Amino acid sequence: MRQKLVVGNWKMHGSRADVAALLGEISASLPAQAAETAVCPAYVHLAQALEVCAGSAVAVGAQDCSHMSSGAFTGEVSAPMLQDLGCRWVILGHSERRQYHAESDNLVAAKLGAAVAAGIRPIVCVGETREQREGGEAETVVAGQLQGALDGQKDLTGLVIAYEPVWAIGTGLTASPEQAQAMHAFIRGCLAGVAGVDAEATRILYGGSVKPDNAAQLFGQKDIDGALVGGASLDARDFLAIVGAGRA
Ligand code: 13P
Repeated sequence: MRQKLVVGNWKMHGSRADVAALLGEISASLPAQAAETAVCPAYVHLAQALEVCAGSAVAVGAQDCSHMSSGAFTGEVSAPMLQDLGCRWVILGHSERRQYHAESDNLVAAKLGAAVAAGIRPIVCVGETREQREGGEAETVVAGQLQGALDGQKDLTGLVIAYEPVWAIGTGLTASPEQAQAMHAFIRGCLAGVAGVDAEATRILYGGSVKPDNAAQLFGQKDIDGALVGGASLDARDFLAIVGAGRA
């Protein structure tokens, strides 16, 4: 049985006051037996987020990390730094990083290796664009991204995959539960062929306009093990409702 996992990706949002208010409310009001819960604020808010969430069941993660562990890489933050701070998770290969920062599968693979080596649990994002889906290429694209990130890794302990169709991110368009389930089942099939991965035990999250009113239906699908939530994770009540929908 895979425990549901709900992760808030705050992207480039929020102030110190928001971190205090939002995380104060979330950590104080987490429903009983809710999904495992994590939030990923911007780097500059991580230390404060960890302080606010200390002693609660809310874990803290980062939205990215460097592929190098230390050195002359101005502006970068390494996985060991995140580990040292107390972060448990890191999101890797988000479509916004692939699109705006030209992240390749090779770079995502290197970041994944760095995260696992530092003891940080990786959430590797994959997903197709609308053009790719309409062109019938969705599965080929997702399989290629998985292969690019996972093949040849020495250790894939704690791996989580997030399927985020690019056309559903921030658009209000959600993949239907059936569409999402079909892709999640396909992803699980791909994982079964990757050395070092226990496909049945690996959690596959759905991301893309997850809201309180669609979370339960998505979570009811056999291969949907939780959500990576953008916009709705910036509202404590909405995020708590999504976390509650993942009750065991
Ligand atoms: P939205 O929930 O705002 O569509 O964002 C999804 C996402 O990109 C999470 O990583």
